[in-house]
Amino acid sequence: MAEDKLKEKIAVVTGGASGIGLATAKRFVSEGAYVFVIDRNQKDLDEAVSDIGKNVSTGIQCDVSNLKDLDKAYEIIKDRKGHIDILFANAGIIEFVPFGKISEDNFDRIFSINVKGLLFSVQKALPIFTDGGSIILTSSVGASTGAEELSLYHSTKAAIRSFARCWILDLKDRKIRVNAISPGTIDTPFVYQSLNKEESEQFFDNVLKSNPMGRMGSPDEVAKAVLFLASEDSSYITGIELFVDGGVAQI
Ligand code: NAI
Repeated sequence: MAEDKLKEKIAVVTGGASGIGLATAKRFVSEGAYVFVIDRNQKDLDEAVSDIGKNVSTGIQCDVSNLKDLDKAYEIIKDRKGHIDILFANAGIIEFVPFGKISEDNFDRIFSINVKGLLFSVQKALPIFTDGGSIILTSSVGASTGAEELSLYHSTKAAIRSFARCWILDLKDRKIRVNAISPGTIDTPFVYQSLNKEESEQFFDNVLKSNPMGRMGSPDEVAKAVLFLASEDSSYITGIELFVDGGVAQI
């Protein structure tokens, strides 16, 4: 049941048109926030905003790896609401590429969205970010584990985990909290993107065999944890990595 934990807060969710971002945008709204949903996919964005509610959310088409797009997005937010209290920097992509076959394009694509895009999504928000606000970054259990064909993706998530540690010091005078959330395998379109049916069945089989809870997580199970980090319930928590993974990173 909603409890108005984010009453009158202005929140931004990147990658908010699908999966974990969409579930979080819905949670934020149900707790009283106004949410700007940023995503690069206009069709999904339109559907997401009509799903969440136009009176409580605005969709902004923006590729987070494009700095001009980010400038435009934050201009819109500044014009409409003047400030941001909560930022969930969550947009990200995955690619499976074996080491030995990684191309410069693979590297540039994944690092420019997952690392550069996330860094500038946060840095460019700072001029209108409320002192004492909360920033949550989507990392992954992959930041602290190894996996075949995922060295590129996992290393982007390790960079994100490191951002949270450093930024709590850079932002300490402004009392802005920064935390990372690390999902395990969550049932969103993301995990099916670059695998064919047979590969994904094998992937999930392996993943779920090694999960203490023996199942995938739902996007809303991550959203509930993001809400905790966004709200005053976590007022003395900063710089952490909160695993939402059925225990997989602990074994
Ligand atoms: P999803 O694919 O359902 O949603 C990701 C959203 O990000 C999509 O709407 C997509 O259009 C958007 N996006 C991608 N690149 C973008 C860009 N350059 N600019 C703006 N928007 C962009 O995936 P999901 O699962 O919700 O993923 C969200 C985050 O969670 C990602 O950072 C992912 O790495 C992370 N994650 C997901 C896990 C999973 O099992 N689903 C596990 C661990 C981490």
